[in-house]
Amino acid sequence: MNKNKKKYKIAILPGDGIGPEVMKEACKILKVLKKKFNLKIKTKKYDIGGIAIDKYGCALPKKTLKGCKKSDAILLGSIGGPKWDYLPSKNRPEISSLLPLRKYFNFFINLRPSILIPELNNLSPLKKKIVKNGFNILCIRELIGGIYFGKPSKEIKKNNKHYAIDTTIYNTYEIKRIAKIAFEEAKNRNYKVTSIDKSNVLKTSKLWRKTVIKVSKKYPKIKLSHIYFDNAVMQIIKNPKKFDVILCPNLIGDVISDECGILTGSIGMLPSASFNENGFGLYEPAGGSAPDIQGKNLANPIAQILSLSMLLKYSLKMNKVSNLINSAIKKTLIKGFRTYDISYGKKFITTKQMGNEIIKSIIQD
Ligand code: IPM
Ligand code: MN
Repeated sequence: MNKNKKKYKIAILPGDGIGPEVMKEACKILKVLKKKFNLKIKTKKYDIGGIAIDKYGCALPKKTLKGCKKSDAILLGSIGGPKWDYLPSKNRPEISSLLPLRKYFNFFINLRPSILIPELNNLSPLKKKIVKNGFNILCIRELIGGIYFGKPSKEIKKNNKHYAIDTTIYNTYEIKRIAKIAFEEAKNRNYKVTSIDKSNVLKTSKLWRKTVIKVSKKYPKIKLSHIYFDNAVMQIIKNPKKFDVILCPNLIGDVISDECGILTGSIGMLPSASFNENGFGLYEPAGGSAPDIQGKNLANPIAQILSLSMLLKYSLKMNKVSNLINSAIKKTLIKGFRTYDISYGKKFITTKQMGNEIIKSIIQD
C-alpha cells in the first residue's frame, strides 16, 4: 500500500513523568503500523530532561543530541517534574533541554492543533451552545525568535536598583518564513489565516503585521485578518469556531496555543510539532509531565500518539498512515472509550487499554 520504501530512523526520547508510559503506547501503535504498511522505520531511545540530569548531570547529553542528529525525526514524551524544582530556572530540565534543541535544529515552525469533535463537546469548559459543533484551530507559533531568544537578556544592578531585561526582536526574514508556512497550511484547510500581534504598541508587532501582509499578496485566495493579542484572547473564548489558522510570534503563540488547547477540555489529547525548513522535527504532547498521575497507568496516551501521527505526516511524509492514526483515535473516542482525564466521574480505561483500543480501531480499518 505504502510506496515510500525509504528507510527511516526515529529518535525516541521518553523523558520524565508520564512520558515513558505514554511513549510505550505510541511505540506499540508504530509497531502495528510498520507491520500493516511494511514501513522501514527504526527507533532508538535516548535520555532527556530530569532523568538525564540524574544520570549524566545534564538535561541534554551529547549522546542524545548525536542520536537526534542521526535521525529523521524526534519523538519526545515529556520533560521535568517537582524533583528538579530545586534547580535555578536556567538549569531546569525543560529550559535546559527543550529550548537548546529548538534553537540547535532551527525548529522555527511550531504547529499546535486544537480540535474539538462535536461528540466530545461536553469536555470543553465553554457553554454547549458555543461548542455544539466543535472547532478545529491550528495555532502556528514562531518558535526560535522574539523575546525567547532576543539579546540582551540579563539582570543588571545599577544605582542601587536591580533590573532585568529581555529583548523582543524580529527581522523580516524570520517573519516571512513562518508566515509562508501559515498560508501553505491554510490551503489544506479553510483558506483563512488570523495573525495575532500587538501592533498598536510594539515595534516588532508593526513589522510583523506589515511583513505578513506582504507575504499574503502571493496568496490571493486566502482570507487574512489581523487581531490584537488582548482582543484575540477574548474572541477565541467567545467563538472558537470563527478561527482556522492562527499565526503568532513566539510568546503570543505560547499563550494562545494553551488557550485554544484547554478549550478542547483535555490537555491529554494535544499534540505539537516543531520543525525546520527541511522537515526535520520534534514531536511532543503539548501537556506537561503530570507527575501526580505518573506510574499509575492513568495518563491519556492520545497526545503522544497524535504526536507520532504528526511526525509521520510532516517529517516522513506518510500522510495516509498519519490519517489512519487520526481516524482510529476519533473512532475509539466515538465508541465511548475514555481515560481518567476525560471520564468526568464515569467509567474509564487505563493508559495501556486506550493504546490497545486504538490498535483495534487501526486493525479494523
Ligand atoms: C511550551 C512550553 C515551553 C515554552 C517552556 C517549557 C520553555 O511552555 O512548549 O509551550 O515556553 O515554549
Ligand atoms: Mn507553553
